[in-house]
Amino acid sequence: HRTVRVALLGAGSVGSQVARTLLDHADELALRVGARLELVGIAVRNVEAKRDVELPAELFTTDAKTLILGADLVVELMGGIDPARELIALALGSGADVVTANKALIATHGLELFDIAERVGAQLNYEAAVAGAIPIIRPLRDSLAGDRVDRILGIVNGTTNFILDRMHTLGGTLDEALAVATDLGYAEADPTADVEGYDAQQKAAILASIAFHTHVPVERVYREGITGVTAELIDEARTAGYVVKLLAICERITAADGATESVSARVYPALVHAQHPLASVHGGNNAIFVEAASAGSLMFYGAGAGGVETSSAVLGDVVSAARRRISGGPGLRESMHADMRVADIGDVVTRY
Ligand code: HSE
Repeated sequence: HRTVRVALLGAGSVGSQVARTLLDHADELALRVGARLELVGIAVRNVEAKRDVELPAELFTTDAKTLILGADLVVELMGGIDPARELIALALGSGADVVTANKALIATHGLELFDIAERVGAQLNYEAAVAGAIPIIRPLRDSLAGDRVDRILGIVNGTTNFILDRMHTLGGTLDEALAVATDLGYAEADPTADVEGYDAQQKAAILASIAFHTHVPVERVYREGITGVTAELIDEARTAGYVVKLLAICERITAADGATESVSARVYPALVHAQHPLASVHGGNNAIFVEAASAGSLMFYGAGAGGVETSSAVLGDVVSAARRRISGGPGLRESMHADMRVADIGDVVTRY
């Protein structure tokens, strides 16, 4: 019987769920893949740390490198740039396929990792890096690869959507809503990356790069968080028939000559018309509204975070990479070679 050896890096809320599913649903996954997915080990910083779910102690190791070199497929869920960057490069270089949920790494060092993957004919899948459980990377990269995406409007940060939604529905200030978000576990202990828009900025860079087949550096994405949104602004928006949403906006801009096209990506609190489908995205949910030339308008909606939910996207990537591995199909072809100009920040006050 064929086996794909899977190494896991990180056992936080997503990682421990991925491990649990690999162990509990091994037979079912084997039927779907056509080979067994054998979890060969889990690399962590501290073997003794308390986990969200119970896992066999013998799987844990602190030696990530040795684990990687004995694996066919490496799942990186440790987060952060270092050492994730080096470990993924090691995995790809050794011929393993890689699945990651690391948006910071893909947004800042994606190109160099895609290059390695393409060179060695490996897969680098990152569906879980944007909007948790929601399938959006693969739809943009594969399903819509024959169409022309014109615009993406995304609610890609659950914490800020929860805060703004609460201000709209229950009133109160941003600080009050943030305190509730923290209590409920939506917001991190340090919510800066969420409320200042850095998290959404990284996701916007990734979405724009895939949708427009052009590398959009994260520092070229305009970013404005929600800290300036007051109860008065929410009231004014409501009176005018709008809701305030933190949007990641990625769009194709055609110059006056009609020939030159560029990509604009930006994150800021925008006025969304109360009738627009994005206006009904409540609580900590995410949604990505895609406008394509032939497909028209599509909306992808669901849970943008959460260990169990996000593990779904990770495992989908694992199954996909494992299937390709045993069928001997081609590796990754990440097409970011269109070289469209990335637009300078123009008019950033937009209504949708
Ligand atoms: N902090 C993120 C959010 C988690 O609130 O959406 C998922 O990246």
